[in-house]
Amino acid sequence: MSVSISAQKVVKKYAEFTVIPDLSLEIKNGEFFTLLGPSGCGKTTLLRMIAGFNTIEGGEIKFGDQVINDIPAYKRNIGMVFQSYAIFPHLTVRQNVEYGLKLRKINKVEMKEKVDEILKVVKIEDYQDRLPERLSGGQQQRVALARAIVIHPSVLLMDEPLSNLDAKLRVEMRSAIREVQKEVGITTVYVTHDQEEALAVSDRIAVMKEGVIQQVGTPHNIYTRPANTFVATFIGHSNLFKGVLTTTKEGSFVKFKNGYEIKMDTLVEDTRDKANVIIAIRPEEFSIADEGIKAKVKSKTFLGKYIEYELEFDEDMIVEGSHLLSILKM
Ligand SMILES: Nc1ncnc2c1ncn2[C@@H]1O[C@H](COP(=O)(O)OP(=O)(O)O)[C@@H](O)[C@H]1O
Ligand SMILES: [Mg+2]
Repeated sequence: MSVSISAQKVVKKYAEFTVIPDLSLEIKNGEFFTLLGPSGCGKTTLLRMIAGFNTIEGGEIKFGDQVINDIPAYKRNIGMVFQSYAIFPHLTVRQNVEYGLKLRKINKVEMKEKVDEILKVVKIEDYQDRLPERLSGGQQQRVALARAIVIHPSVLLMDEPLSNLDAKLRVEMRSAIREVQKEVGITTVYVTHDQEEALAVSDRIAVMKEGVIQQVGTPHNIYTRPANTFVATFIGHSNLFKGVLTTTKEGSFVKFKNGYEIKMDTLVEDTRDKANVIIAIRPEEFSIADEGIKAKVKSKTFLGKYIEYELEFDEDMIVEGSHLLSILKM
């Protein structure tokens, strides 16, 4: 049976080095939940704490109502898929998938049923008698996925499972993973540093930086309503401008440094008058107009569906270090 996962004030230290200072999270039963962040931010560390391969230095992790801090990994009923496929080279596809069931001493008839079903779900039934060396990377990862879910784990954990695959296969496999997860409905925690992959597969995403969660939300929510400039620039590209917020009887406006003003009907935060703000603008939101903010085109790249322009604005209009891109549809 699949479960919800709850982390309350979780702390992880490696000796004196605190990787996760204070982290809380609620993952729903059956949810596809992704931990997304740059390399070294603590994603694997947190996943290993959920799995039981890492000690927990503070706080609590629960599966449903049960605190699992002191339950050993092998008793947590977890399925795991790693970046390296970690399947046995001397066993056939079917034998690899059977492995976890054999450990659980399940009878032969039931085992055959379960393995047949999973081989079909992950679409590797045609290769069931092959050895892994005769499979492509994508097929091997399907075997690893089948082996993880055939035991009907309470939780499925995946750590950068697509990193070793080439770009085309990654896109194909992420749809496959998403489909399989929906079909089996197991609570899944998925780790990636690839923002596009996270947007494509997740029900919800937690964006992490230096062991701290920056925002939790649906892909749409995170892309359109980033909580801070880190999220705005890490998930897709954002151009960051300096601005001032003004609130009048007519509503709220953001004013750029050159005096150009835009009415903002969708501000939901506490909108203080005259507050200095950072205005984050997605590349695809620019258009050419007679009034607005001036820019010089530095370069132009034809990318098929659109043309990407690199723009140069007045130095004092932009937030330092912000790279400026604009995408105009043809
Ligand atoms: N076993 C360990 N001992 C000491 N430091 C570690 C250990 N594992 C990871 N770290 C450190 O913890 C931080 C987070 O690592 P990790 O969880 O692997 O990040 P991510 O998976 O997001 O790339 C990094 O600074 C890493 O060097
Ligand atoms: Mg990692």
